[in-house]
Amino acid sequence: MPDPVTVLGTRVAYAARQLPRLAWFAGHGVVMRRLQAQVRRRAPPRDRGGAPPVAGPSPGPASLPGSRRLYADLARLLRQDLANVEAGIYPVPDDHDGSLPTLLERSRLFFADLPEIHARRERNGVRDVLAEAPRRGRPAYYLQNFHFQSGGWMTEESAERYDTQVEVLFNGTANAMRRQALPPLHEVFAGRDQRRLRLIDIGCGTGRFLDCLKQAWPRLPALGLDLSEAYVRHAQRHLRRWRKVAVAVGNAEAIPAADASVDAVTSVFMMHELPAKVRRVVMAECARVLRPGGRLVLVDSLQRGDDPAYDGLLERFPQNYHEPYYRGYLDEDFSAMAAGCGLVPVRDVNAFVSKVMVFDKAG
Ligand SMILES: C[S@@+](CC[C@H](N)C(=O)[O-])C[C@H]1O[C@@H](n2cnc3c(N)ncnc32)[C@H](O)[C@@H]1O
Repeated sequence: MPDPVTVLGTRVAYAARQLPRLAWFAGHGVVMRRLQAQVRRRAPPRDRGGAPPVAGPSPGPASLPGSRRLYADLARLLRQDLANVEAGIYPVPDDHDGSLPTLLERSRLFFADLPEIHARRERNGVRDVLAEAPRRGRPAYYLQNFHFQSGGWMTEESAERYDTQVEVLFNGTANAMRRQALPPLHEVFAGRDQRRLRLIDIGCGTGRFLDCLKQAWPRLPALGLDLSEAYVRHAQRHLRRWRKVAVAVGNAEAIPAADASVDAVTSVFMMHELPAKVRRVVMAECARVLRPGGRLVLVDSLQRGDDPAYDGLLERFPQNYHEPYYRGYLDEDFSAMAAGCGLVPVRDVNAFVSKVMVFDKAG
């Protein structure tokens, strides 16, 4: 039984770190929505020729969670995050958001880009990125302005803005959702020498999940892979405080690791951005590189039916953020896909608007 002073100290430390950042990013969301409403009032959206950017049924209001429900689920996520800390799975998290001047600069970059994003959304400019970046062997599905974001995945500026954009989208809970991949890793890592384990995070982006991972297992050798050179460079900078972590440009469709050589593979918020065919290739690659008994942990959006109260919100999401493969993702049968490549589904756990999917490679 931990002593009450330690419990109180942990809770105060957790609240002191998490609550200001929730307020900061949620505040950005409030300002952003006000600016968007002003722009909409001044200039109604142009007719795009009838077809919406992503075809599909419009959501029924009954399937939208009310704000009370959303905040209750957000609070549940934070309670789970704290419970994981109290269970010793990871220390009180440090989100490494940067100093106040850094945060202000991130904020400036975020707001300065909103007019560009708005203009791109209005004209459905989902391939602007082709004019900005060389293809360099990257697949066509990848070369799009996902989320209508400027530069797609290609530019340094996009990498600088990404974490603010994601945290604003999730009201400051993106890292807390990422951390929900750590308990299933703890189950298979506990009692083992972390220096002898090996983990690969595919589609690692700016390296925020790897940062969470290293806070729990600082000596665990880890590799982050991403197709974006700019995001890889950003991740390398962000992670330079850690040893035994490498980040490289690489395609999750061809993971640069030998068969049965890795103890765990993780991927956060990437699966919904892949075409269905590519998702299958990527799952098979994860299965190939895992050792028998190795674990795959995916964190991604809730799927249709995981929590019916959210179905309308999930339907609506790709209309505002260019997400060409999201509707297919909503109905993807991950258990069947896993079974097809020798992975055994262990469990799914909802975590606010995300879910954690756990699979083991058959031993
Ligand atoms: C939505 S971001 C998620 C980034 C990060 N995992 C996170 O937690 O925010 C999707 C990432 O997947 C990367 N990506 C997409 N397709 C990929 C592929 N085939 N191979 C490697 N990375 C890919 C993108 O470059 C981008 O950084």
